[in-house]
Amino acid sequence: MLSLPDTFPEFPAFPAGEVWLAGAGPGDPRLLTLLALHALSQAEVIVHDALVDKRVLGLASPRASMIPVGKRGGQPSPRQSDINTILIEQARLGHRVLRLKGGDPFVFGRGWDEAIALAEAGVYFRIIPGLTSGLTATALAGIPATTRDTNPAVVLAAGHRAEDGSSKADWEALGRLGQPILLYMPLLQLPDVMSALQRGGLAAETPAAFIQSASKPGARVVETTLARLVDDAALHGVTSPTIVVIGVIASLRNRLGGFLVDWQ
Ligand SMILES: C[S@@+](CC[C@H](N)C(=O)[O-])C[C@H]1O[C@@H](n2cnc3c(N)ncnc32)[C@H](O)[C@@H]1O
Repeated sequence: MLSLPDTFPEFPAFPAGEVWLAGAGPGDPRLLTLLALHALSQAEVIVHDALVDKRVLGLASPRASMIPVGKRGGQPSPRQSDINTILIEQARLGHRVLRLKGGDPFVFGRGWDEAIALAEAGVYFRIIPGLTSGLTATALAGIPATTRDTNPAVVLAAGHRAEDGSSKADWEALGRLGQPILLYMPLLQLPDVMSALQRGGLAAETPAAFIQSASKPGARVVETTLARLVDDAALHGVTSPTIVVIGVIASLRNRLGGFLVDWQ
C-alpha cells in the first residue's frame, strides 16, 4: 500500500450526507489523484459512470454500495435528472456519496449540472478534479498539447451532438482558427466534423491521430491525416473511448525516435 511521508498534508474528513464529485482519470488507477483515492476508501455509496475503469472501482472500500449510472449494453443513458435525484437522495439518507466520473468531472462530464442540482437542493459537496482524457491520452502517446514552436493554443471540443440534436461547436470557425483540436466523443459525427474543418480552411494533409483506450488494456495510437480520418477509423476498427487529435502536434511524436518507453 501507498505510504506517504509524515509531512504529507492531511486528507479532509468525508462528512456523512456530503457528495464528493470526483474525476477518476482516463483509466489506469495509477493516474488517480490522491484525493480521489482517499474518497474511494471513505465513500459508503459510489455512483459511477460506465467509463470508470473496473480497476479504479476495485480500490473502493469493500463496504461501499455501487450504483452504476452509465450507458451500458446499448441501453440509453439514465437521464441526468434521475442521476441528480439519486445523488440528492443518497446524501439525504446521510451517506458519504462519491460521484465518480471518467477523466475530469468538469470536462464534458456533466459535472456542472450535478453541482448546480446539489447546490439547489442544499446538499454540501466537494469537487475533486481528475486527469482529463484529452490531455492525458496525448501525453501518454508522446504528443505534446502545446509546444513553444507550434501552437499557442489548443482546443478541447466534443464531437457528439448536444442533447437537443444540434451540434454546438462551430467547426468551420475552429478550422479557420488553425489551432490543434483534441476531439472527445469523436466517432458519431466524424464525417461531418472533418468536412466542416476542411471547409473552414484546415488542409487535408493536416496530421491527425486516434488515441484509443489511453492508459487501458489495448491502448493504441493510429496516426493519419485530416482527409483520411474517416476511412482510417473504419480501416483500423477504431472504437470508443477514443480521442482524436488534429493538428501539427499529432505528428511530433515521430521525433522521439523510439525512446519513449511504453506505458504499462
Ligand atoms: C463523456 S466524455 C467524458 C470526458 C471526461 N470527463 C474527461 O475529462 O476525460 C467521454 C469521452 O472521453 C474520451 N475518453 C475517456 N476516457 C478515454 C480513454 N481512456 N482513452 C481515450 N479517450 C477517452 C472519449 O472521447 C470518450 O468518448
